[in-house]
Amino acid sequence: MTKHVLLIIGGGIAAYKSLFLIRELSKRGITSKVILTKGGSQFVTPLSAGALTGETVLTDLWELDEQAEMGHIELSRSADLIVVAPATANLLARAAHGVADDLASTTLLATDTRVLYAPAMNVRMWEAEATQRNVAQLRDDGAMFVGPDAGDMACGEFGEGRMAEPDAIADAVEAALMGDTSLDGWRADKPLQGKRALVTAGPTREPMDPVRYLSNHSSGKQGYAIAQALADQGAEVTLVSGPVTLPAPMGVTRVMVETAVEMLAACEAALPADVFVSVAAVADWRPAARTDKKTKKPKDGPAPLELVENPDILKTLGDHKERPALVIGFAAETHEVVTLARAKRLRKGCDWIVANDVSGDVMGGDQNAMIIVRDDGEDSWPRMTKSAAARKLAREIVKAL
Ligand code: CTP
Repeated sequence: MTKHVLLIIGGGIAAYKSLFLIRELSKRGITSKVILTKGGSQFVTPLSAGALTGETVLTDLWELDEQAEMGHIELSRSADLIVVAPATANLLARAAHGVADDLASTTLLATDTRVLYAPAMNVRMWEAEATQRNVAQLRDDGAMFVGPDAGDMACGEFGEGRMAEPDAIADAVEAALMGDTSLDGWRADKPLQGKRALVTAGPTREPMDPVRYLSNHSSGKQGYAIAQALADQGAEVTLVSGPVTLPAPMGVTRVMVETAVEMLAACEAALPADVFVSVAAVADWRPAARTDKKTKKPKDGPAPLELVENPDILKTLGDHKERPALVIGFAAETHEVVTLARAKRLRKGCDWIVANDVSGDVMGGDQNAMIIVRDDGEDSWPRMTKSAAARKLAREIVKAL
């Protein structure tokens, strides 16, 4: 089957080599569509790239006609791989930081398709800490790299920074398309394949009588998003959910429960697992007795509500004989978030605690700002959607497993 590459040509002297790359790919049965950045068009013309690909060359976001609206999303979806060659320091920086200010960077931000970068720049720019930081970030986000090579540079200097030769880039493209594990930065599409994940989500509901219960405002959104993100990474996921109104995530086995006791039983039944993510807002207490009949309002003032402690599911699984290799708890706090989360991590016997400040609108909202507390320190993530946070957490889980 013919494979399609979306080739982003950045603004560097090496851009002329990308025309040879198009030819090289086409010899190998791989078609290309080109996005030429503003800088790229200083070095090669849309006409030459278009003549070689036989396709219209896209040059800027705002030139897309109405029919091609959302074109950048569509563009990246129709490609099997995105290749950025030459990947300039500027393009790498913008991609690493999610800057979307032209068609190329917007496409890179909007895509789920794997990206192969062929960096090309002056040796000092390549060796600059900022560039190396950006490259590390992109690798972390799943990008692949080919080159740069060492050699004489157009600027008269010698060193690493020269774009890889077109046939080497074409080899890397083929390797990426075939899933060749020796490729720099190669990562399986489904790295959690063969791994089992257990996730709890939502509130628990602790009944007092047939019509009344104790519960909380947890919407289940964060836990459901994590279950989905882990399934997307190939894990076999069991989601033990308290009562929420969300549909079951695709490809996830969902077990609905009401109480903490039921939730614990369902979790234990789902073991063994490689990772346990305890997102549920489990009620710490339950009414000591549940009456079968609705209790009537006492005539002489309110009756005391007697409570007993619920099992701690996270702690139970953290101490379990079948303890998952990675146990992750959540800490919803309204103050002293990190201090309390650190203590909670130790108390509950888990590897990581995901702390979040619920003093705002996190519960029930669509966004979350997480702090990952591990034994070697904390990592604060910016506020993002719950699904973006879930995908980021899933990537961290991939690394840890
Ligand atoms: N948790 C659990 N079972 C419980 C209570 C909590 O599995 N009975 C889990 C939650 O899923 C979460 C973590 O423990 O991963 C932290 O829950 P939280 O309610 O914030 O902590 P508590 O231990 O209840 O402490 P506190 O209420 O004092 O903050």
